[in-house]
Amino acid sequence: MKNFDSQIFKTRDATSYDSVTEQFDYFTEQLSQPLALRMVSMAEIAPTENVLDIGTGTGVVALQAARMIDLNGMVYGIDLSEGMLAKAEEKARRMELDQKVKFSQMDAEALNFEDQKFDVALSLFALLHFPNPLIALKEIYRVTRPGGRLVLAIGSGIPIFSSTGWIHLLKRFPDLIRDLQGKRLVAPHFLDSLVQQHIPETEEPEESHLASHSHNRTQSIRSLVQQAGFDILKTYWHGHQAVIETPEEFWEIQRTFSSIARKRLSTATPDEVKSLYQKFLEKCRAVQSRGGRLVYPFAAFYVVGHRPKAD
Ligand SMILES: C[S@@+](CC[C@H](N)C(=O)[O-])C[C@H]1O[C@@H](n2cnc3c(N)ncnc32)[C@H](O)[C@@H]1O
Repeated sequence: MKNFDSQIFKTRDATSYDSVTEQFDYFTEQLSQPLALRMVSMAEIAPTENVLDIGTGTGVVALQAARMIDLNGMVYGIDLSEGMLAKAEEKARRMELDQKVKFSQMDAEALNFEDQKFDVALSLFALLHFPNPLIALKEIYRVTRPGGRLVLAIGSGIPIFSSTGWIHLLKRFPDLIRDLQGKRLVAPHFLDSLVQQHIPETEEPEESHLASHSHNRTQSIRSLVQQAGFDILKTYWHGHQAVIETPEEFWEIQRTFSSIARKRLSTATPDEVKSLYQKFLEKCRAVQSRGGRLVYPFAAFYVVGHRPKAD
């Protein structure tokens, strides 16, 4: 069992994004916009409301939310990574939304806002990064007004005990055949396993306990949201799959989005990275030459809830 120091974990997680901010924003704009739109629509934001986006990254959700409000409302996006926040601010200025959205460096587990400030709290793909997600959810509850809404989404495989899950599994049957024929490489497992074979582990864990140990994440998240005090109104799972054209882009997307690859590659020597990259390219080209595909599946489990009016 590795040592787990929450403060060190948070700092390392945030700084690991600083060097891949441009790539993160590029891929997020391509892949996550529909998810951000779905979240904002589920939140039913009124023009004068105050909205908080936790773990905002380069602002994909916060900037969508800012389009829903007028100058009487405000969106606050918080994150620990300076690089991500700088990019989010630059985008807000470029989109002329900077009067409606403020980005600040802040820890989700210690929000620097007064009680009940927000009508709506949103968070996309961030909760699994927090070492103490229950503390973060309690903080989110504290700063949400009674009756205020929560819409959060985490990355999650298919919740197999649901009808959507079974339908999705059946649809994946042709992929299983492709796997058996060696005609498919799947991110981020492909780069993660190469990295784990060839680059030594570091002392610090690369993922939070919830991200790495929970076999039933969706159940854990439901239970944490309820323990924090929110009522769950509905949950929803949606899966996507992007086919990546080139091995070079397939490398970039994984080293950007996978916490394991991003963190471990940042500790490797340039020679180790170069040699791993060559192995990676060879394997991708071999699969493509057989008519196979490079795929990046990504899926979100959404939880829509509210803070009860009287507690
Ligand atoms: C996978 S990114 C998601 C970003 C954005 N919501 C999106 O979907 O594009 C996770 C984000 O959570 C941020 N983060 C990690 N730990 C945090 C913490 N304790 N407090 C605030 N933000 C944190 C990271 O810096 C990163 O920007």
